[in-house]
Amino acid sequence: MADTSKTAKLSIADKEIELPIHSPTCGPDVVDIRKLYAQGDVFTYDPGFTSTAACESTITFIDGDKGELLHRGYPIDQLASKSHYLEVCYLLLYGELPSAEQLETFESTITNHTMLHEQMQYFFRGFRRDAHPMAIMVGVVGAMAAFYHDSTDISDPHQREVASHRLIAKMPTIAAWAYKYSIGQPFVYPRNDLTHAENFLHMCFAVPAEEYKVDPILSRAMDRIFTLHADHEQNASTSTVRLASSSGANPFACIAAGVACLWGPAHGGANQACLEMLKEIGSVDRIPEFIARAKDKEDPFRLMGFGHRVYKNFDPRAKVMKQSADEVLDLMGIENNPVLQVAKELERQALEDPYFADKKLFPNVDFYSGIILEAMGFPTSMFTPIFALSRTVGWVSQWKEQLSDPGHKIGRPRQLYTGAPYRDYVEVEDR
Ligand code: SDX
Repeated sequence: MADTSKTAKLSIADKEIELPIHSPTCGPDVVDIRKLYAQGDVFTYDPGFTSTAACESTITFIDGDKGELLHRGYPIDQLASKSHYLEVCYLLLYGELPSAEQLETFESTITNHTMLHEQMQYFFRGFRRDAHPMAIMVGVVGAMAAFYHDSTDISDPHQREVASHRLIAKMPTIAAWAYKYSIGQPFVYPRNDLTHAENFLHMCFAVPAEEYKVDPILSRAMDRIFTLHADHEQNASTSTVRLASSSGANPFACIAAGVACLWGPAHGGANQACLEMLKEIGSVDRIPEFIARAKDKEDPFRLMGFGHRVYKNFDPRAKVMKQSADEVLDLMGIENNPVLQVAKELERQALEDPYFADKKLFPNVDFYSGIILEAMGFPTSMFTPIFALSRTVGWVSQWKEQLSDPGHKIGRPRQLYTGAPYRDYVEVEDR
């Protein structure tokens, strides 16, 4: 635990309670309220956890005001331009950048875990062809617990390690097979001679009838998208994984819970919702109409891909994503993509609008990712599965960190109860 030389004093009725303050490496001090209920007989109230630190972590730090994202201290823009996804996976899992030998061993380990148990194919075939790929991912990831029994004992550090590697390695295969199943094409097996990003593109777009050559610009953009989505502090899906893990649930069940949470349009589903919104807007002359709707309190419509709980400046991932969008669209010869034109004009108008400026609403990671993914040939239904396979390393790293804390306990929030007080049962004839 960080430095606790400072304290906070809380006066409640006739009680004066002194609470320790922890000073972190980066970010605001935190008031430790673990003894508040015992000492003051009160709860704190923070639905949505806008002011609550749920854990101590050393993995990722976000400075929302500066628009800075650090993974083990390294800024995301440097990692996106100088590193690659599997090296970032090593960094998130083990805390330091790997040596050349460590990286080679890690990449070989992940590569050799990319295949699924052959019997798992029957899970895919049990779904309707028009099932959303996220529905398939939730089911198949949870079902991994029924196949990989030798990596479900969370008390065994070796089994935790193997489960981590299996999840990182197999999620791209699961996502790619969900896609293939939805378009009625045969599953394509992973290949050990391809990189992580090349393998995913190959499993998605190769067909038995002809050779598929992975374009290096596309695989670089794919790897960058994986990296930009790798981890992000205690976001909703990561918090879900931590809470599921706190009961002792096996790693596959915990990650399946994270996949389910990520699916929501307020979270990882925003990339699909954002592209669908941009297409609904359709042309730049309709942008004012949608901005007016986003500002209208009576209208539930929000600008998808805008706003963030933590970032009150540009999401640094959105900046990198915007560069990638230009590169990929230039490559595809669709630099005049109408959806990208709407996105850029929408961003310009929103950023000039006092409503968004006052509320510090900026484009987030989901604003441009969908444009790239669509240009690469993915349907919108595959956007969130790609977010999920990228975020698996973050979920797994945070899951491992929580389990390695000997003091961790089951998460069990309390509540502010405003329901009926005690009352006796009333027979139906007396109601
Ligand atoms: C991700 O947590 C993470 O780190 C998530 C993520 C990750 O990597 O894990 O970064 C990935 O989920 C990115 C966010 C993707 N979601 C979207 O793009 C959906 C659209 N955005 C909103 O739903 C919203 O901005 C959230 C959910 C992202 C954040 O919501 P908050 O923090 O609860 O903020 P809020 O709803 O309290 O909004 C504050 C104000 C409100 O107005 P007032 O009530 O104060 O008058 O800003 C308004 C909101 O109405 N507002 C928006 C808006 N987002 C917030 N108004 C219009 N359009 C928007 N997008």
